[in-house]
Amino acid sequence: MAGLEETLVLVKPDGVARNLTGEILSRIEAKGYQLVDIRMVEPNRDLLSAHYAEHEGKPFFDPLVNFMESGPVVAMRIAGHAAIAGVRSLCGATDPTAAAPGTIRGDLGRDWGLAVQQNLIHASDSLESSSRELALWFGPLLSPPRRRRLPPPPPPTRPRTTR
Ligand code: RTP
Ligand code: MG
Repeated sequence: MAGLEETLVLVKPDGVARNLTGEILSRIEAKGYQLVDIRMVEPNRDLLSAHYAEHEGKPFFDPLVNFMESGPVVAMRIAGHAAIAGVRSLCGATDPTAAAPGTIRGDLGRDWGLAVQQNLIHASDSLESSSRELALWFGPLLSPPRRRRLPPPPPPTRPRTTR
């Protein structure tokens, strides 16, 4: 069994503007992961440059930061066993045109002909990224004393049979 993990999810400005925050969270919750914390943020360039530091110098870096700065973002702390890989899997491929149907990007995203892929959601890609990114977006203020205790996940519901 994989360890209990926390991952950072961002509903990007295109997802918030298209009123898809609930739909995206709903898919994550329906999978069985738990929402531990949530906040709406208007990120500045410093936060975004730190968040996307690995992409500095790439051709899409400036358009990416401009896009991420273009409107509010909803940041979520999500928990569960193997949640990092599991949420990445729910997201689908980076390019929404190539993302498989059934995934968030595959079902809800598309190419809008813009300078950077607007693909609705960010999710941490490793344990190292998740701790770095959670500290950036939630900070030390939201450490254990202010966070609710996680209840055990509910048992799976049985499909109703019709008679
Ligand atoms: P994210 O970090 O946002 O979860 O996405 P990711 O891991 O799937 O993709 P990554 O390679 O880390 O790229 C970060 C974000 O930059 C934008 N991007 N645009 N060629 C392009 O137009 C291009 N490449 C990357 C996307 O918004 C991508 O999610
Ligand atoms: Mg990435």
